[in-house]
Amino acid sequence: MTSILILNGPNLNLLGTRQPEVYGATTLADIEVMCRDAAENLGLSTTFAQSNHEGMLIDQIHAAKGSHAGIVLNAGAYTHTSIALMDAIASVELPVVEVHLSNIHARETFRHTSYIAPVALGQICGFGATGYILALQALKQHLASP
Ligand code: DQA
Repeated sequence: MTSILILNGPNLNLLGTRQPEVYGATTLADIEVMCRDAAENLGLSTTFAQSNHEGMLIDQIHAAKGSHAGIVLNAGAYTHTSIALMDAIASVELPVVEVHLSNIHARETFRHTSYIAPVALGQICGFGATGYILALQALKQHLASP
């Protein structure tokens, strides 16, 4: 079965209590369950992970090569700062769908820049937790006809 890594960056472990007016009440554990159900319906298997550490995220991206067919990535604030994450994605040559719960383009100017976007298949933002499901659908379609 096609396997997808769903990778979450810093502070996303606090979803549910973290700025609910921005990120909603859904917890990361809720999102994991939603993703597992959606993936099952799409005939995909998923590995769900979160880290607050840039190097750990990079290690997970490296390890994905050979074990996963694609990545759904919400890199949190590293989206706007991390050339290292961008390089990691470019190095493994796996399709990556960038996800953000909030619409980063409607927020502070520093959130309008994404180092992930230039090396991603595409970006989904502003749809809350549904964005993860949309990303799985997009990857499924991409992998069926790359
Ligand atoms: C986020 C948006 C980022 O700007 C922010 O730093 C996050 C969450 C989102 O999902 O909306 O941590 O990636």
